[in-house]
Amino acid sequence: MDIVAFEHLTAVQRAECARILREAFAHFPAYDEEGEAEAEVETFLTVPERFAIAALDGDTVLGLIGGIDTYSHAAELHPLAVDPVHHRKGVGAALTAALEARVAAMGKLTIYLGTDDEFGGTSLFGADIFPDALAKLATIAPTDGHPFFFYRKLGYEPVGVVPDANGYGKPDLLMAKRVARP
Ligand SMILES: CC(C)(COP(=O)(O)OP(=O)(O)OC[C@H]1O[C@@H](n2cnc3c(N)ncnc32)[C@H](O)[C@@H]1OP(=O)(O)O)[C@@H](O)C(=O)NCCC(=O)NCCS
Repeated sequence: MDIVAFEHLTAVQRAECARILREAFAHFPAYDEEGEAEAEVETFLTVPERFAIAALDGDTVLGLIGGIDTYSHAAELHPLAVDPVHHRKGVGAALTAALEARVAAMGKLTIYLGTDDEFGGTSLFGADIFPDALAKLATIAPTDGHPFFFYRKLGYEPVGVVPDANGYGKPDLLMAKRVARP
């Protein structure tokens, strides 16, 4: 597997990235509009605060990860998608490690992300998060393979929650990881 900066991809590979975004997020209400995934991919090269990295096997795109330069010392991870036919082969972990190295090289300390539970992958789905939202977040458990648990395995820890972000009982789970020494 090769890990490459987005700038090195061909137009065909960038189109593949858009397809992967659509297919990896098929169970989320994301990238449903025509051209939405292509527009997101375009931002990696045109919007100054955005950047991305891809995983390749030869010329074949396996997945991609994006970053957003938001704070002086923290960056957001968004988006991360691995081609569904290549899940559970270490591609997501390799992409995340590459983003961590890049963000650390930018002089930042921490990566944060939001991962929505809008399909019922965690024990928080469908439940009232009020009161004591943070206590409920601390007891979160998987119900159906949510990426929250992928990120937790890679060292990201829950740092907050946006209640009802996507509707009642459909929170956005906020996670973060320190990627460089202060
Ligand atoms: C989440 C995603 C990026 C994971 O990519 P992947 O290439 O399948 O993950 P990896 O093979 O690198 O997995 C790394 C570790 O996490 C584990 N893991 C992967 N997906 C997991 C999940 N959904 N729940 C719990 N653990 C998971 C793997 O078993 C592996 O553990 P191991 O090191 O003990 O073997 C991929 O499933 C995906 O693209 N999903 C759809 C899009 C998405 O949800 N993106 C994130 C939105 S915030």
